[in-house]
Amino acid sequence: MTTPPTEPTGVTKVTCVGAGVIGGGWVAHFLARGYDVTAWDPAPDAREKLRRLVDAAWPALIQLGLAEGASRDRLTIAGTLEEACAEAQFVQESAPEKLDLKRDLLARLDAATPPGVVIASSTSGYPMTDMQTEAADPSRLLVGHPFNPPYLIPLVEVVGGERTAGEAVEWASRFYEVAGKSVITMDREVPGFIANRLQEALWREALHMVANGEATVKEIDDSITEGPGLRWAFMGPCLTFALAGGEGGMGHMLDHFGPSLKSPWTRLEAPELDAALRDAMVDGCDEAAEGRTIADLVAERDQGVIDVLRATGRLPKGGAE
Ligand SMILES: NC(=O)c1ccc[n+]([C@@H]2O[C@H](COP(=O)([O-])OP(=O)(O)OC[C@H]3O[C@@H](n4cnc5c(N)ncnc54)[C@H](O)[C@@H]3O)[C@@H](O)[C@H]2O)c1
Repeated sequence: MTTPPTEPTGVTKVTCVGAGVIGGGWVAHFLARGYDVTAWDPAPDAREKLRRLVDAAWPALIQLGLAEGASRDRLTIAGTLEEACAEAQFVQESAPEKLDLKRDLLARLDAATPPGVVIASSTSGYPMTDMQTEAADPSRLLVGHPFNPPYLIPLVEVVGGERTAGEAVEWASRFYEVAGKSVITMDREVPGFIANRLQEALWREALHMVANGEATVKEIDDSITEGPGLRWAFMGPCLTFALAGGEGGMGHMLDHFGPSLKSPWTRLEAPELDAALRDAMVDGCDEAAEGRTIADLVAERDQGVIDVLRATGRLPKGGAE
């Protein structure tokens, strides 16, 4: 691939192609971070819809704090894809999730965008290897998978395809960080990336329970918002499970509860809990703790739950504020 012509810190012009829920959310995010944004979407009513979306997002973005010079006036809506991409320093594609459409569109974007400029797809699940087949320069195409709404949820999962240059992946990860996102750079294509794979596991079990009359939708939703969801906003599922092992952490947790992986709680085939998996989980928790002791993590978890309860107006009534 040609080296990206602009350093990640030097980018001022971003192009968003496809301006629905996600593309529009990206537009709002990049505007709030002080970029000049050009958008293109073939729908006849796209212009009005995009303006409505950005206007609706703007009060939240003001609350979060706009970058210097950020303005909704810095949005240009282009008449053609070619016009949208002509001066792009980064392109974010957020068109409908259809493989043939993505293949053709990415090839058109590649043809219309200056050499070396990185083009990212918001796809929720297609591997870039399957989408980059028609492009003349597949080396600059990669996935930058956001979460809805992209202007509030920080995470972007970045991953290339078989024909993507490592340099493009590095550039994009750095660019998203500069643009205020929280980035996970994956070194291989994994079905569903990371977060969707986890979300889908939960979703699949929820559907099983509803289909079998085992739980209502409300019970399922309450079981998360009144339960583990409170912890997950600030401490992930592995570290919070490590705390279920008390002072023994993840090692005790696995030795104690590990055999129940085979219990019929789940419709999934459970993995074999062999020594290698046990060690990987224990080591991974140690690494994620970054030197924090179990007691430190317990204190952090408890404070986090209180903060989330306060933030969502669910503090127990009658106590001192
Ligand atoms: N909705 C989510 O929660 C979510 C989350 C992460 C990623 N994504 C991904 O983002 C992408 C967009 O999803 P969405 O939810 O915004 O869909 P959407 O239907 O809201 O928006 C898609 C937009 O693309 C436009 N479009 C149609 N044909 C096009 C073309 N040929 N070129 C460019 N634009 C075209 C449509 O007019 C529409 O405005 C998908 O790949 C999806 O998997 C969605």
